[in-house]
Amino acid sequence: MKLTRLDKLRLRLVAQDACLAWAFENIKGRSGIVFELGLGHGRTYDHIRTHLPDREIYVFDREVDCYEDCIPPTDKMILGDMRQTVPEAVRRFAGQVVLLHADTGSYGDKHNTEMQQLLSATLAPALAPEGLLLSDLKLDVPGTEAVPLPPGATEGRYFIYRRQR
Ligand SMILES: C[S@@+](CC[C@H](N)C(=O)[O-])C[C@H]1O[C@@H](n2cnc3c(N)ncnc32)[C@H](O)[C@@H]1O
Repeated sequence: MKLTRLDKLRLRLVAQDACLAWAFENIKGRSGIVFELGLGHGRTYDHIRTHLPDREIYVFDREVDCYEDCIPPTDKMILGDMRQTVPEAVRRFAGQVVLLHADTGSYGDKHNTEMQQLLSATLAPALAPEGLLLSDLKLDVPGTEAVPLPPGATEGRYFIYRRQR
């Protein structure tokens, strides 16, 4: 039987949760900041800030339209079109990002292809050596290698990349 849209949503959320949990453990003891691309309703931002209370977390979106208790501090919210804000932030924070979570997909294929192209072309210099990139979209980021998903996550429903040394 084919996967329904509900199946895909469920598998994506389970994989997202498992990948984030794995990443929180993996970056323990390593310095670096966090990028959260796609504030949305603030669900994954809330999760990340709760599990990584001592990390500086920069959050990107074109708007703040999230749960009221998930609004990032003004100086950490990078508002605007990611086509501009992401390349600027990558230059500003080059080599400092130990965990980059990109949750930028939508139901539109055109949008997803544009985001895949943007993120694949721009993100690499932001990552610290062995920095992790988690994404809801498959990416092709030079200088990174794909990491097998942790137990509980279905391959192809989320993606983990690690910057090579
Ligand atoms: C899937 S939602 C994020 C969900 C969020 N992580 C959560 O858990 O609630 C994707 C977000 O990316 C933002 N987004 C997509 N393309 C963008 C762009 N080019 N510039 C800025 N924000 C963008 C959308 O506004 C949307 O809020």
